[in-house]
Amino acid sequence: MPYTNRKILKFSEPFLKVEYIENAKNLAISEKTIIVNADSKSEILVANKMLKPWSSSIYANVTIASAPRIICITVEPDFLSFDSFSNAHAIKKKWTKISDIISLPHLRDTNLWRSKKENVDNVELNLWFASSKTDCGIHNKHGFRELHTQIFGIGRMQKFHENDHDSLYQEVFMSPGHTHEPFYNDRCEYPWHQYHADTDCIWLAAEFDD
Ligand SMILES: [Fe+2]
Repeated sequence: MPYTNRKILKFSEPFLKVEYIENAKNLAISEKTIIVNADSKSEILVANKMLKPWSSSIYANVTIASAPRIICITVEPDFLSFDSFSNAHAIKKKWTKISDIISLPHLRDTNLWRSKKENVDNVELNLWFASSKTDCGIHNKHGFRELHTQIFGIGRMQKFHENDHDSLYQEVFMSPGHTHEPFYNDRCEYPWHQYHADTDCIWLAAEFDD
């Protein structure tokens, strides 16, 4: 067996498959797949290059010799379209709108949806969908350390000096396959930040307990 444990996470959709694999050995990846190194300590070797813990890229036609924990993500029909995401309708019907998760006036009309969550190896995983040109809401508090892996579309993680769009001081563009660097510090403190969707966007959120 090229792994000891493999499961398709429950929030997957027919067109959006998220698999968690433990102890991969000589695992062949044929079609275009986002591979996330989901081990907090070990780098893994993919296509003769080391992939750091909680970093990711899109690969095809590679074999992973050895990896303690990886997340493999595929999406249909592709990772990017400069039009809307073709399966957006199915997501909006099934996932939970942000206004039903967080009751804040400024989020009432925000076109942002979240899937169910699943915990693997003490990491809470969930998917998000934002419609094109959505500001997902500036915030600076979390009870966990968060990282995001872009799956579909082009978006940006933005940092602000204050709770004000005009105080923007950094943008990290999110393109398919990319996981951004942590925004939190050692004390789990965050700057004011938000996700901005330029096109329809889907991303994986990984939430680590403090
Ligand atoms: Fe956040």
